[in-house]
Amino acid sequence: MSGKKKKVEYKKAKETVKEQKPKLSRHDFIKKTWKLLGIIAGVEVAALTINVLSPRKNDSSINKILDAGQVKDFPNNSVTPFRQGQFYLVRRNDGGFLAVSLKCTHLGCSIAWNESENQFVCPCHSSTFDINGEVLKSPAPRALDIYEISIDNGLIHVQLDKRNRRSSFTKSDITYV
Ligand code: FES
Repeated sequence: MSGKKKKVEYKKAKETVKEQKPKLSRHDFIKKTWKLLGIIAGVEVAALTINVLSPRKNDSSINKILDAGQVKDFPNNSVTPFRQGQFYLVRRNDGGFLAVSLKCTHLGCSIAWNESENQFVCPCHSSTFDINGEVLKSPAPRALDIYEISIDNGLIHVQLDKRNRRSSFTKSDITYV
């Protein structure tokens, strides 16, 4: 067989193979696209689920002790909100401190300090609490939680990971300088 003949036969064979290759129909294309999108969506959902369910790795970086400031910065009979820490720093008439949680003990709404009434008020169902967090008016079933406080060289530290549940106010809840 001559070289030219070989070339022609090779070309014919190539064209035959091309013709035999099935063309992708529109229906198949759409089907495959949907399949691919389904796989991508599945992978994203799986990644999101793993991310949500896995424990937070940066817990140690969360500052659990909040420096509230110097004792001298808080006059007697004052209530100072620390919204980020989720508490009010109370300085009583006798100079003692309390870090009162701002979550109502009824259903967890955020309470507000009413200066003119000298009491905390819950906007949800109108429970009220005195300056120590003691219940004045229900439906709140118990006193507001408090955070542990320590005072070092005149600086007040509030321990955000030590929230104490209490049924009512007692003198031992107060931290003195
Ligand atoms: S949540 Fe505070 S009174 Fe109901």
